Amino acid sequence: MKHPLALLALLAATAAGAETPRGLLDTYAAEAASRTPGFQASARRGADFFGRRFGVSEKMPACVSCHTEDPAQAGRHAITGKDIKPLAPRANPARFTDAAKAEKWFGRNCGEVVGRPCSAAEKADLLRFLAEGA
Ligand code: HEC
Repeated sequence: MKHPLALLALLAATAAGAETPRGLLDTYAAEAASRTPGFQASARRGADFFGRRFGVSEKMPACVSCHTEDPAQAGRHAITGKDIKPLAPRANPARFTDAAKAEKWFGRNCGEVVGRPCSAAEKADLLRFLAEGA
């Protein structure tokens, strides 16, 4: 079950339409901690997740297939060839300022690449890595 307070915070943030990467990280970390007491987001785990080859999809085995090894650099869509702006908020301040947008793309990309939704813990780890580097 989702943590009711974390969910409320996310909904409130979505309604306000002006999230911050830090606020989203805190929301995901709180949700993860409600399931795993003592949870702390880890940039290292986030980096591992980002680079892992899940092998669910042949054309897009990993997040780095489109977002490249360095999330502070522009990426390239593995299928359409379209440019993708850097995913790291330190390189692209528009990133993770809209909770609904982040959730939409987590939903799509995790489904295609990982073959299941990403957990709150995975999202918190990834956000810490994207914000701070490994
Ligand atoms: C097939 C190419 C592709 C792969 C593989 C991919 N992404 Fe993306 N991702 C995109 C595109 C396209 C966008 C939306 C365009 C944009 O925002 O620049 C996007 C946007 C996102 C966003 C939105 C961030 C924001 O708030 O602006 C997140 C989060 C994200 N991706 C996470 C992931 C994760 C995690 C993985 C690996 C599990 C992954 N992506 C793998 C193509 C991809």
